[in-house]
Amino acid sequence: MAVDLLLGLQWGDEGKGKIVDVLTKNYNIIARFQGGPNAGHTLVFNGKKHVLHTIPSGIFHDDATNLVGNGVVIDPVIFKGELDKLEEQDIDYRKSLLISRKAHIILPTHRLLDAASEAAKGKAKIGSTLKGIGPTYMDKTGRNGIRVGDLELSDWKERYRTLADKHESMIAFYNVDINYDLSKLEEEFFEAVDILKSLTFIDSEEYVYQAQKSGKTILAEGAQGSLLDIDFGTYPFVTSSNTTAAGACTGLGVAPNQIGEVFGIFKAYTTRVGSGPFPTELFDEDGETMGRVGHEFGATTGRRRRCGWLDLVALKYACQVNGVTQLNMMKGDVLSGFKTLKVCTAYKYKGDVIEHLPYNIEPENVEPVYTEMKGWEDDLTTMTDASQFPKELNNYINFLEKELQIPITIVSVGPDRKQTIFRK
Ligand code: IMP
Repeated sequence: MAVDLLLGLQWGDEGKGKIVDVLTKNYNIIARFQGGPNAGHTLVFNGKKHVLHTIPSGIFHDDATNLVGNGVVIDPVIFKGELDKLEEQDIDYRKSLLISRKAHIILPTHRLLDAASEAAKGKAKIGSTLKGIGPTYMDKTGRNGIRVGDLELSDWKERYRTLADKHESMIAFYNVDINYDLSKLEEEFFEAVDILKSLTFIDSEEYVYQAQKSGKTILAEGAQGSLLDIDFGTYPFVTSSNTTAAGACTGLGVAPNQIGEVFGIFKAYTTRVGSGPFPTELFDEDGETMGRVGHEFGATTGRRRRCGWLDLVALKYACQVNGVTQLNMMKGDVLSGFKTLKVCTAYKYKGDVIEHLPYNIEPENVEPVYTEMKGWEDDLTTMTDASQFPKELNNYINFLEKELQIPITIVSVGPDRKQTIFRK
């Protein structure tokens, strides 16, 4: 069976966790392939909110196997926190959760390095979640990292010490004011590593290959969004992994010709958390309303998200890079009550009007060109079928489908599993 992908098409926080949870019934295996605890996937069902950071969003379904792939970076302390929460809810994860031996470990000093690097950048800071993501991927590509499989080796603590000592000298080199008590951090780290070691480690690329061969259905769950991709995002204001479709190939060991459907998730408007350019960002009451109605606060850091109109130039680019076959539009309900909606269809760029994403999208380089549409008043959150949609919402959806040339197969009208409307 082909492996289907589910990816965020904007700057993250599109609502991937909810859609994975909704789609899990169609799959045997849900696999995370990149990112780490910088992600915050929110799921709402039975009146309760659940936030996952590293664990795949299929964990609440009894029949699904959940794989943390080789492309993921794991912080044992945060991972343990997630397991504790699952235990509180009597979720039996032991049999259904598998971890790749090739996934890299986030050390306490990776987190400290993240903090030191950001502090040293001053105003130019990335706005990182400070979970140690960048430094851990740097050690991976620098060939210094510690992997999950290393925890099974007798000398892994010596390797740990060598790397942590190196990190301490790097922190000192930054020469910024970072207060920390490493022995305390290490105490909780080693305790959490012991818990991690009690889980099932696997050679995940072989597992995925055999699962495909035996006809199992697999959904690869992306984290962050395409515009945060290390290669195709708004560099340097990006995360440190490939969040786009290619990342699923390297992050799970899936061959490119084995990719099936690519579900592209986007919000009916745009948000961004952290620094970096955002051409359609709003600084007015409309932006404030989107943030308030949409509860636009980071699931991992609690930071306020920046809000703006939908940017079709950026969305088209993301569809292109990922080979999206189906679109899922989230948070349509948040736009109820706006008299006029705007969608950016082009940029004014160096005297021209362009429809592709240029190298520089900073405010001094691009000015969005908007198409205006009439909004709708109706509350969408209680709707259960697309036939109930107001005509203005249908106009909005039809316009996007025509521009993007990809069907919008799911429209989400609220955070709950049940507030999901399938089209066509
Ligand atoms: P890092 O990956 O934590 O270093 O953060 C790099 C950039 O990506 C920052 O602007 C973060 O706010 C952003 N970022 C990282 N993870 C997420 C996410 O899951 N959702 C939205 N933004 C994220």
